[in-house]
Amino acid sequence: MAKGLKIAVIGGGSVYTPELVEGFLARWAELPVEELCLMDVDPERLRIVGGLAARMVRAAGGPFRVVLTTAQEEALLGADFVIAQIRVGGVAARALDERIPLEFGVIGQETTGPGGFAKALRTIPVMLKLAQAMEKLCPKAFLINFTNPSGVVTEALLRQSSIRVIGLCNVPLGLKHLIASWLQVAPTEVELDYFGLNHLSWVRGVRWRGEDVFPRVFAQALERARRGEFPFAPALLETLGLIPSYYLRYYYHHDEVLAEQKRAGRTRAEEVQAIDAELLRMYADPALDRKPELLGKRGGAHYSTAAVALISTIHNDRGEVHIVNVRNEGAILDLPAQAVVEVPAVVDGEGAHPLPCGPLPPQVRGLVQAVKAYEELTVEAAVGGDERRALQALLAHPLVPSFSVAQGLWRALKEAHRSYLPQFFRAP
Ligand code: G6P
Repeated sequence: MAKGLKIAVIGGGSVYTPELVEGFLARWAELPVEELCLMDVDPERLRIVGGLAARMVRAAGGPFRVVLTTAQEEALLGADFVIAQIRVGGVAARALDERIPLEFGVIGQETTGPGGFAKALRTIPVMLKLAQAMEKLCPKAFLINFTNPSGVVTEALLRQSSIRVIGLCNVPLGLKHLIASWLQVAPTEVELDYFGLNHLSWVRGVRWRGEDVFPRVFAQALERARRGEFPFAPALLETLGLIPSYYLRYYYHHDEVLAEQKRAGRTRAEEVQAIDAELLRMYADPALDRKPELLGKRGGAHYSTAAVALISTIHNDRGEVHIVNVRNEGAILDLPAQAVVEVPAVVDGEGAHPLPCGPLPPQVRGLVQAVKAYEELTVEAAVGGDERRALQALLAHPLVPSFSVAQGLWRALKEAHRSYLPQFFRAP
């Protein structure tokens, strides 16, 4: 019998892990996992989350082994797939990313704008170390990256390492499920003509069983928007002629979102802290052997479906289409070849091959190009510890209104995250 697969999860102590375990159990017949190795730097979280993972696997008849470790090398050695879902600085650092920009009148969000910028600077060096370790310990493995900001981190990895990396996010699958629910059909029968960058994407076509149903979907989007069930102004949708994904709210409805954030007593990070504390309390119960409903209150729904389906497609060399973050290589004509984009790609045993998308619609072209330029500069700043590049990145970001705001943000973010940004504090 062929050897089963070893899957390593870096950041395995995440509260999301039970969802991943559920996904691997559900697809075990097509994806013969032998070992699920959960690695985390926090031994206590690992013990609690890993305990639940082991009970879930046991309750399902024990098709694979769950191994817990705090040693990255142990997790990577011999791995076939590595899933990265880390949060450098934890939720406390996220709270700063969400709060500091607000002091400058700028939206505070963990992946979009200056918050995402700070997160990228903290995260990229750690992820590059992971890739370097993979080059030694499991050079043939695929790295499936969920670590946010997923597109920027994936671009850094693809530019700096020889590892095969695919960036993944739950937004495309979430949008597919939403559209399928509007049409009252199965998500597996729906195909999206989807393009953009991670957390900056649009749908411009929908096929159901091969038939063009975009006009119906668009009418639904408008109707839902009128009823307040889709978070965009109907007039915006009519003007745009495209269906934007959720994160476009930070741009198209900037003033409203900023006002909401200023009014809110607490940041999303603080809400997440409360949900996670409750989840960990539940996970610690030795009688619990499945994923609690409460996990649905976190934003990452469908992430396990996306990951496990993608890994199965690679392992079984199926050539299915998945929406992933890959090197552009000409898929979007108005972006550089090296740029990482979020587009439909044919996935087989060799990896993800983006499908041609053509030119960007002019009503969004400038925004995508500006955000991509910001991302490129952010990668350079994070890798080289280059302050000038960091400032240029903030200056290039469409949500940063002026140079003085960019300067103020840079000083504040750099100081607040000092212990996670050693590349900017090297002795001269
Ligand atoms: C969405 C995004 C993820 C993000 C999550 C945040 O799913 O696609 O990238 O991590 O929301 O959810 P949270 O519960 O942490 O606010």
